[in-house]
Amino acid sequence: MGRRKISVIGAGFVGATAAHWAAEKELGDVALVDILEGIPQGKALDLFEASPIEGFDAKVIGSNGYDETKNSDVVIVTSGVPRKPGMSREDLLETNKKIIESVVLQVVQRSPNAILIMVTNPLDTMTYLAYKRSGLPKQRVIGMAGILDTARFKAFIAMELGVSVEDIQALILGGHGDEMVPLPRYTTVSGIPLSQLLPKETIDRLVDRTRKGGGEIVNLLKTGSAFYAPSAAAIQMTEAILKDKKRILPCCVYLEGEYGLKDICFGVPVKLGEKGAEKVVELDLTEEEKKLVAKSAESVKKSIAELKI
Ligand SMILES: NC(=O)c1ccc[n+]([C@@H]2O[C@H](COP(=O)([O-])OP(=O)(O)OC[C@H]3O[C@@H](n4cnc5c(N)ncnc54)[C@H](O)[C@@H]3O)[C@@H](O)[C@H]2O)c1
Repeated sequence: MGRRKISVIGAGFVGATAAHWAAEKELGDVALVDILEGIPQGKALDLFEASPIEGFDAKVIGSNGYDETKNSDVVIVTSGVPRKPGMSREDLLETNKKIIESVVLQVVQRSPNAILIMVTNPLDTMTYLAYKRSGLPKQRVIGMAGILDTARFKAFIAMELGVSVEDIQALILGGHGDEMVPLPRYTTVSGIPLSQLLPKETIDRLVDRTRKGGGEIVNLLKTGSAFYAPSAAAIQMTEAILKDKKRILPCCVYLEGEYGLKDICFGVPVKLGEKGAEKVVELDLTEEEKKLVAKSAESVKKSIAELKI
């Protein structure tokens, strides 16, 4: 069996860093595509030249066209503009809509069997657009947001408690916006419920910081948005798919009645394996949690309506 193939569309901060993680983990050969002349080629060559030092075997090719993406197993879509301080993810909708429509068509023509991992914001809306335009089954168009949001929550808990990030399990539902729904009730440190380790006020503070986690980085960077953690999250999904790991991870998928929601792409726990999002895991939620989910879904629905498709 030859190597697997991962294409990354958009060779900016998130895309190039995703290519880096993918190659270094030897998940497969990597094709990096961008409209900017020389950028994907230069970054791909530079990354390949790191392989003798780091000792990974993966071909890395950069291109301004899509032929190099042919027969990809996974395509990570990061093309589009990121936000700047003062902007919401929704402010990116008009510009990124056009980019995603053209990219998805080109990708699917060359790789009809690929699984798409969407990263471009506004995430839930762009995942919905990609699902509708690609014609792929819903299991194969998956948005990355929940893993990132959950990682931020875990990182803040680890900092607060001074414990290893490895021991923290957490879960966040909902859209990738400030109305996401962190679930402290489903959060543990080595099996110990978070509520036994931290007072409610502290948990509320960490939840609030998580909700605004993307904005915190944007305000620090000033010229762009987060990319290390987002690209690592997209690669965790890629690895779960290529290795058929059947991991349960929060991802944005098209819902048809789960959680009482229909015709929306929304963050829920899914089983990730070789077929993509193989199953949606439904949780028992309290009335309060259900209300928060409904509120988050309402803002995603509003954004989807703005696509006018
Ligand atoms: N889902 C998430 O959690 C999450 C996290 C971080 C960033 N993002 C989003 O990911 C996207 C990329 O962020 P970034 O920091 O890498 O931005 P960036 O500006 O560094 O990179 C985007 C790249 O896309 C390229 N591009 C634009 N139009 C294209 C087209 N038609 N075809 C191919 N490439 C094209 C640009 O030339 C640029 O190199 C943004 O929309 C950002 O908001 C999402």
